[in-house]
Amino acid sequence: MADTRYMARKSVADIVNSAEAHGSHSLSKTLGATSITAMGIGAIIGAGIFVLTGTAAAQFAGPSITLSFVLGGIACAFVGLCYSELAAMLPVCGSSYTYTYATLGEIFAWIIGWDLILEYAMGAATVAVGWSGYIVSLLHNMGINIPPTLAAAPGTVIKLADGTTATGVVNLPAIVIIAILTTMLVLGTKESARLNNIMVAVKLVVVVAFIALGVFFIKPENWHPFIPANTGEFGHFGMSGILRGSAVVFFAFIGFDAVSTAAQEAKKPQRDMPIGILGSLIVCTVLYILVAGVLTGLVPYADLNVPDPIARGVDAIGLNWFSILIKIGALTGLTTVILVLLYGQSRIFFTMSQDGLLPPLFARVHPRLQTPHLSQILIGTIVAIVAALTPIGVLGEMVSIGTLFAFILVCAAVMYLRRSDSDALRPFRVPGVPVVPVLGILFCLLLMVGLPLVTWGRLVVWLVIGMVIYLTYGRNHSKLRFPGRH
Ligand code: ALA
Repeated sequence: MADTRYMARKSVADIVNSAEAHGSHSLSKTLGATSITAMGIGAIIGAGIFVLTGTAAAQFAGPSITLSFVLGGIACAFVGLCYSELAAMLPVCGSSYTYTYATLGEIFAWIIGWDLILEYAMGAATVAVGWSGYIVSLLHNMGINIPPTLAAAPGTVIKLADGTTATGVVNLPAIVIIAILTTMLVLGTKESARLNNIMVAVKLVVVVAFIALGVFFIKPENWHPFIPANTGEFGHFGMSGILRGSAVVFFAFIGFDAVSTAAQEAKKPQRDMPIGILGSLIVCTVLYILVAGVLTGLVPYADLNVPDPIARGVDAIGLNWFSILIKIGALTGLTTVILVLLYGQSRIFFTMSQDGLLPPLFARVHPRLQTPHLSQILIGTIVAIVAALTPIGVLGEMVSIGTLFAFILVCAAVMYLRRSDSDALRPFRVPGVPVVPVLGILFCLLLMVGLPLVTWGRLVVWLVIGMVIYLTYGRNHSKLRFPGRH
């Protein structure tokens, strides 16, 4: 009989069995622990550190942006532990969407699936805009000048070199990079994963080189005052500035959870998932704190509100060749992030479609390439349009608030499942439940409070649109509620 309850939830055993019955036969199991950790780092280090660190230091926190990273890292550590337990227990693709289906039920699963579009698709758009900033800067070094109006969203005011201003029309480089990466993803996961490993290595070398070289050129006076006095407005320097800074640079941590979307393609999910998630998170947090410290030591924080702040830091060292290298490394880094986010989005849609909440098109796999080609192309097209037309600040804050919201539900899911499915096999267990998940929820809420009201408003509008789609489509096609129809 059809299960018509909104709170209909899947059992843990059903999820694992259905993964074995469907997904694992259609998506190939090619990823080992190293590829997955690289995928995590690939997804994490990106526009957050290469772009938003500078803007957040200049506008909100000054040198104490370093403390913002500490706060963000603590929040993610709690959430990362929760993700690890769920990813090892439910080795299926779909990320927190799947975990919520098993806990709070279908309607919440839909909400989270819809919300994850903010993290993945919008996240890819945000990073593509960051990529555009660095490519324009690199091409300028090579004597090729892209008209600034064709590399910025409509309405963005751009300061030109001669002191005049112009208004952006469209962000063409952002469209180009999304088109290239979408093509790669359509052609095959294994090849993309191999290239991803190489690009992650390049990005890591560049970040470490920036820290190692930059540390010798720090001017300690740039760190004074370490916490600039509040301007009288919430979020602009002082303690509230550290909080707003954390909420903005929280974007830099997003991605460790993207690893969980690959669970179905992992060779040994129980072992590889926790290693991938926690390993990549630890490496990135340490690097971020060091990069933020070095950057604000090299350049007065007020000068960091530029599209390529890390390159500005290198300019302060005075090594021109290194500046070009940093730009190449940043571009590589940003590329890997877009790749993983576009990949993750298609895998979440894949699972939602298998559940009947999205049309079957999203679960169609190309017979030879073994990739969800149609879904990937549709996602690429929409992400390219959004990236072409929206400024990075608006996108980044939307991604942060959407992701924090998803993280809260993940922490709640861990606590819920410990009671509802207490005997399920848990290859990895979060220590200190319920303290760790509760702390995860509180830290995420704290960071959300740091974001402006207008961003909260946008989140609500987004969730309302999602609810209308669920009530008109997903609710009537859900395989859980109407098992006989399929
Ligand atoms: N963490 C990713 C970035 O910073 C999304 O680009």
